[in-house]
Amino acid sequence: MRCGSATSHDQSSVVRYVVAMEEADVLRAVTERAIAYRSGLGDRPVGPTATATQLRESLGGPTPQHPTDAGTVLTRLGDAVEGGGLMGMGSGRFFGFVIGGSVPAALGADWLVTAWDQNTALFSPSPATAIVEEVAGRWIIDLLGLPSQSSFAFVTGGQMANTTALAAARHHVLAAVGWDVETNGLGGSPPIRLVVGDEVHVTIPRAARLLGLGSRCIERVAVDANGAMLSADLERVLSDGPGGPTIVCCQTGNVNTGALDPVGELAAVAHDHGAWLHVDGAIGLWAAVAETRGDMIGLEQADSWSTDAHKWLNVPYDCGVIICRHHESHRAAMTVTAAYLTQAAPGTNRDPVDWNPEFSRRARGVPVYAAIASLGREGIAEIVERCCAHARHFAELLAAEPGVVVLNDVVLNQVLVRFLQTAGNNDGDDDDDDDALTRAVIAAVQNDGTCWLGGSIWRNQAVMRISVSNHATTTADVTLSVAAILAAFRLVRCAPPQP
Ligand SMILES: Cc1ncc(COP(=O)(O)O)c(C=O)c1O
Repeated sequence: MRCGSATSHDQSSVVRYVVAMEEADVLRAVTERAIAYRSGLGDRPVGPTATATQLRESLGGPTPQHPTDAGTVLTRLGDAVEGGGLMGMGSGRFFGFVIGGSVPAALGADWLVTAWDQNTALFSPSPATAIVEEVAGRWIIDLLGLPSQSSFAFVTGGQMANTTALAAARHHVLAAVGWDVETNGLGGSPPIRLVVGDEVHVTIPRAARLLGLGSRCIERVAVDANGAMLSADLERVLSDGPGGPTIVCCQTGNVNTGALDPVGELAAVAHDHGAWLHVDGAIGLWAAVAETRGDMIGLEQADSWSTDAHKWLNVPYDCGVIICRHHESHRAAMTVTAAYLTQAAPGTNRDPVDWNPEFSRRARGVPVYAAIASLGREGIAEIVERCCAHARHFAELLAAEPGVVVLNDVVLNQVLVRFLQTAGNNDGDDDDDDDALTRAVIAAVQNDGTCWLGGSIWRNQAVMRISVSNHATTTADVTLSVAAILAAFRLVRCAPPQP
């Protein structure tokens, strides 16, 4: 252990020695490890294999009392974590949740962000990263065809993008009735109606909780068979209700089915009633870049949009984006000032702190810049189209097997699959058996390790849920994964699980 040469009791010099020694060697070793990890993704089981007990044993221990050199720390950490404790989320055969891979330019840019270590809250201390984010934000607005004057912020993910958008909306709809929510808070304010589709993602009600709106203000609108919000029912809900400050939330990309709400129609209805329309596009907003996606018509009519760069743009975790038509309301909800901050004069440079819910922050827009610069509009559209084509391919191959049904209309990158004890019988009579069978197939696939996918409930039925969100997925990955899924199904069906 080389830090043993630091013999004095002057702890700060010991720590300085440990931190400063061989930084370049440490970074080279970590780079080699990262390259080995990523290039080996295709050869390892996709799911984690280590147990929690094994991980606690290899990573735990008493609180360290003495310095240890960085190389030793990172070797131990890397070995313990990579020894079966990671999910191969970067693998082309990972189809769990909705998790994108990382395109190389974005991954490399993310490393640079860490090396540069810039607090990008303000323009003045980090002009370059602030400008990179400014450019990346404008590129996104252009790529998605949204109003050019819109404001934006790079946040941690879809949850914070939705929360920031609803904070802007809360300001806007209350200001319209003469209530200054930033000064007065919500005590005594006119009530806000929060109208959502029946398939709303859980992050919207959580945003309502965080913003003090509470869940009681939420009213639900009916959806169609694939989970897309019905504009006629939105009209009914808005007409029947008491009026007043209203925020409507729709979504492009249902977390189960991928369904896209008809944003243009919903915007027309919402605006007729003086409501703000927010689009939660964590999953599907990037589909607007693909020219063939006519079902995104009217997207630009909304008032705010959120999306995740760490999903379909294939930027490493974490990065979400909020975009807002009403930049003055966005800014009013977020801005802060303090005497010790060197803030840009109005109309000059962009201080992220005026648009973000965070204060100190990583320059998480930089990998987005690199992804867009590297892929271009054509590359992003190609990822979207290719993932959707793979999803349709999954659906076709799986549905061809007797006893396997695809429950959703595969309009995007999501596929819901159910496994039946008796082929052709998905009438609900034997739901418990088929729920148990479906869950057993999912567990068997996860155990097999060829690919990884999770489960969900759709219309009260257990389903296997496949999300194709990674640029790295190939047709061969789909074929291999389908073979693994069908093998698991045949095996499990021969030894039926206990319900
Ligand atoms: C529709 C939708 N909205 C919001 C989110 C939350 O995004 P994040 O996990 O990036 O916070 C998700 C996550 O899958 C989602 O599917």
